[in-house]
Amino acid sequence: MADILDYVGLSFDDVLLVPRRSSIRSRKEVITRSRFTRRILINIPIVSAAMDTVTESTMAITMAREGGVGVIHRFMPPFRQAEEVSKVKRAENVIIERPFTIRPEATIAEARSMMNQHGISGLLVVDSDNRLLGILTRRDILFEDNDRKLVRDCMTPKSRMIVASPGVTIEEAKEVFRRAKVEKLPIIDEDGRVKGLITSDDIVKRGTYPNASRDSKGRLLVAAAIGIKDQELERAKLLVEAEVDALVIDVAHGHTEMCIDMVKKIKSIFGDQVDVVAGNVATPEGVEDLAAAGADAVKVGIGPGSVCTTRVVAGVGVPQLTAIMKCKEAAERMDVPIIADGGIRESGDVVKAIAAGASTVMIGRLLAGTDESPGTIVVKNGRRYKIYRGMASLYAMLGREFRLDEGDAEVFLDASEYSYYAEGVEAYVSYTGSASDVIRRLVAGLRSGMSYLGARTIDDLRKNAVFIRITQLGYRESLPHDVEMM
Ligand code: XMP
Repeated sequence: MADILDYVGLSFDDVLLVPRRSSIRSRKEVITRSRFTRRILINIPIVSAAMDTVTESTMAITMAREGGVGVIHRFMPPFRQAEEVSKVKRAENVIIERPFTIRPEATIAEARSMMNQHGISGLLVVDSDNRLLGILTRRDILFEDNDRKLVRDCMTPKSRMIVASPGVTIEEAKEVFRRAKVEKLPIIDEDGRVKGLITSDDIVKRGTYPNASRDSKGRLLVAAAIGIKDQELERAKLLVEAEVDALVIDVAHGHTEMCIDMVKKIKSIFGDQVDVVAGNVATPEGVEDLAAAGADAVKVGIGPGSVCTTRVVAGVGVPQLTAIMKCKEAAERMDVPIIADGGIRESGDVVKAIAAGASTVMIGRLLAGTDESPGTIVVKNGRRYKIYRGMASLYAMLGREFRLDEGDAEVFLDASEYSYYAEGVEAYVSYTGSASDVIRRLVAGLRSGMSYLGARTIDDLRKNAVFIRITQLGYRESLPHDVEMM
């Protein structure tokens, strides 16, 4: 017999947080550090969505520099996704452990192509035994128009280079950069073999982004999405080899045997090498089952996203605020953080999601219109937009080799059938400039919300949170009203 729950499903706009006595003097006192997974802490509780119009390496780098983390989407070949992860891990190495190298007999054309592919400004030149022979920088070949010329004829030889030994400190490297006016300091062992590289650029960037989310080696944090089929284990392997910090098992319905099995498989293969996030779910049972299987964080959200049509198409979902509040009970029991995924439209929604029990929020639409999202700006009626699409939208699915690859069955379809299965839409979103600005606005709102609640930390925010349900009239009162907007 069909049953009905005895509580009402609420979404962000149905409630407000009640202000509390506060001893906070300035919003700067507030600490926004939160748990992304069981083991990974990030400095702001914001994660960018694993969608092909939101997160590739450029977005992930900005997210991590701002203190959050990005999840590189999985709708590309595994080797390319691993390359995207590597780009993030290499973006701000303090010590690059495996710098890119080239052989002296390679051509300038090959060197240029390698520099462009990896977005780097120099290559260490080594022999077949990885012994340093010299360095080739972009500057060395800037005006070289003979592409067939060999690297050895353009490089700066080792005899004219300054090198350091393993164990060199960042302070010592800084002193070399200051004194010798070089930009790259290779680290070589007693036999002359390359053991690492320090660049002045990376040291400067480290000072520029003091709030960045970093791993124990000082590199930016990055996560990457995988699916649930067995062949995705190969993808996971490449991502782990690229030193991804967390794998996000990313399926529309995460409370399935297939998803639970995938969590177990990933955990048994990779153990403590990588944290595993799984989802999406919208019930405490879903959180419990995924956490029991070994998930280090659970993603909550069935249908709240701006380009989702799951609730309309399938009639399934739980309004997001209630989903978070119900899931929180299980999450606390299982000691696993919740990522509230979808439906964030304003900074106030971030405050409400976290106050309700999430540790972080995942965002798609608000970041899709920025410079850092994949895709170009389009102009329509004189206004600038970017394209944003649900990953279960018709065109996103068509782009994935005519295969419906979510849920528990792999269904090969005729292209025309796809429109029946779509659970997302394609849309224009206004171009909004830099992702850093969007993130900083959200964090400013979060800090404000926390100070209204007397919450110095994310934990305090949850402890102090009391929601009040509001009516349509209350909601109307919350918006600017009875004025003509400028
Ligand atoms: P926002 O609201 O930030 O939501 O744009 C981003 C989240 O939406 C989910 N997503 C989908 N959900 N059909 C769905 O039902 C889709 O096609 C779809 N694509 C993305 C996803 O969880 C994302 O993080």
